[in-house]
Amino acid sequence: MPKIITVDGPAGVGKGTICKLLGDTLNAPVLNSGEIYRSIAYNLKRKKISLEDIPNIIRYVKKYDHKKLSSDKLYNNSIDLISSQISSIPELRKLTILIQRNFIKLNNNASRLIIAEGRDMGTVIFPKAEIKIFLWAKAEIRAQRRHLQVKNVRKSNKYNDILDEIIIRDMRDMSRKIAPLQPAEDSYLIDNSNLDIEQCFNRILKIIKK
Ligand code: DC
Repeated sequence: MPKIITVDGPAGVGKGTICKLLGDTLNAPVLNSGEIYRSIAYNLKRKKISLEDIPNIIRYVKKYDHKKLSSDKLYNNSIDLISSQISSIPELRKLTILIQRNFIKLNNNASRLIIAEGRDMGTVIFPKAEIKIFLWAKAEIRAQRRHLQVKNVRKSNKYNDILDEIIIRDMRDMSRKIAPLQPAEDSYLIDNSNLDIEQCFNRILKIIKK
């Protein structure tokens, strides 16, 4: 069984970049659980399945075969919000557990180490993980970073709109009844509000190497 390092945290905290760096440096595959919720969200939207129609969503997800989709399909305002919304459906979360376990099964023999990134990796999915990291940054800082990232691509994106969306997603992700975003008791908490990616990455590497 490979050792697992979990990295949880809110929207826009830099988990994706940090986990990619960790994966490359430690030669470990990365389970990006957010991408599972995003891919399901993308497909529900494409199939015009109403977000109010929970039985129909569940029927769809039971047959769902997880495949990698391109970033432009998965990372946009509409998918940000739909994925956050559907992720509070308990039955849907049960089904995504199977997809996440399958990832581990597929990498079981080939890898010594797996990085698992998301909201509930350290609390629900891998409670016995070797090392648990919880990343945090102030909502305003996360919105500033996101704004810098997207303003050249989508000039219409306003800082205040991005901040509002981040606050809405934080609230929804933290207050849902099942698997809310919260640090595992035995996690290392890193507030990266005043750290750049390299500083944050080095801090995590130091914890892993300890
Ligand atoms: O990490 P992300 O922004 O790509 O995740 C998109 C949404 O998916 C997020 O708003 C909440 C949901 N999610 C979740 O509920 N549990 C996870 N482990 C990962 C993501």
